[in-house]
Amino acid sequence: MTKAFALDIDGVLLKGSRVIPSARKALNLLNKYSIPWIVLTNGGGTSEKHRVSELSRKLGVKIETNRFLQSHTPYRDLVNNKNRILAIGGKQSAVRDVALEYGFPDVVTPQQLAAADPMMLAFPSLTSTMAGYNRMLDGRIDLAVPFDAIFVFHDSYDFSADTQIAIDLLLSEGGVLGTRRDLNKFNGTPSIPIYFSCADLQWASDYGLPRFGQGAFIETVRAVYKALTNVPLVDTVIGKPTKFTYRYADKLLQNQAQSMATKISSVYMVGDNQNSDILGANNYGWESVLVRTGVYQENDRLFTKPTIIADDVLEAVEKVLEMKD
Ligand code: G3P
Ligand code: MG
Repeated sequence: MTKAFALDIDGVLLKGSRVIPSARKALNLLNKYSIPWIVLTNGGGTSEKHRVSELSRKLGVKIETNRFLQSHTPYRDLVNNKNRILAIGGKQSAVRDVALEYGFPDVVTPQQLAAADPMMLAFPSLTSTMAGYNRMLDGRIDLAVPFDAIFVFHDSYDFSADTQIAIDLLLSEGGVLGTRRDLNKFNGTPSIPIYFSCADLQWASDYGLPRFGQGAFIETVRAVYKALTNVPLVDTVIGKPTKFTYRYADKLLQNQAQSMATKISSVYMVGDNQNSDILGANNYGWESVLVRTGVYQENDRLFTKPTIIADDVLEAVEKVLEMKD
């Protein structure tokens, strides 16, 4: 039997673009004792392969993709029965590549749609989406093909264009652009499902105050949908702290333990954010360690009780390994 760890990235292994000094030691310690561990982040917008190679280089510790779970990774399990999807968020060409790699057969982004028909946007010349038009044109898109779902992969880089096109599809006749159902006959269920991969309202950028995260885009889409239809939007949100994501993470750890011919006695989530890391771990039945190197600061109010608090990820790992099961 062994303990296992799920480690958050922002505020635990990295702070902005910098590595948290003790992170490398913590990972080396886990490897030395053959402890199963994964990296579990609400970040995203690029492929798992790309993110782990960048992270491995920064940390100086090799991380394989089977030890890595980012906000949209569980979308891999939702590919079935979907032909065309709208992929929203981040750098759109990169996010489109991620969706194609997951196995979605026909992936279209708001930029491609705006390129195919600029009048789809109220003020096409004002939107930053215009900048990506030409790069995204990899052939003509048949606008009559219905969309089966909307997947938000990352923070919206263009709230106006992304909200407009998402709402158009949510209110359409069967996912066909340019059509609209009778708004008086709406219940909460939109014409096609919408999935969001991260509920973080804000995140700590290099600016002095927190900036909008994907959670702010979720609130925008919900508010516009409600204002137009008078009913709340029925949607799906994954990422930390949802059970959907913790279940996926648990599966990765169990696979790892199995390949090491051992069994896991308890899993410790090491995170800096009470709302995502600690809440999610507690709800899923994992143990949790709150660290002081990110969002949570000394003297902040504790509204979700972690198993323990540690100064940083190295102290978290050391303390947990010393604890009796
Ligand atoms: O909100 C996205 C990101 O900034 C949070 O990342 O690694 O702390 O889950 P992480
Ligand atoms: Mg974090």
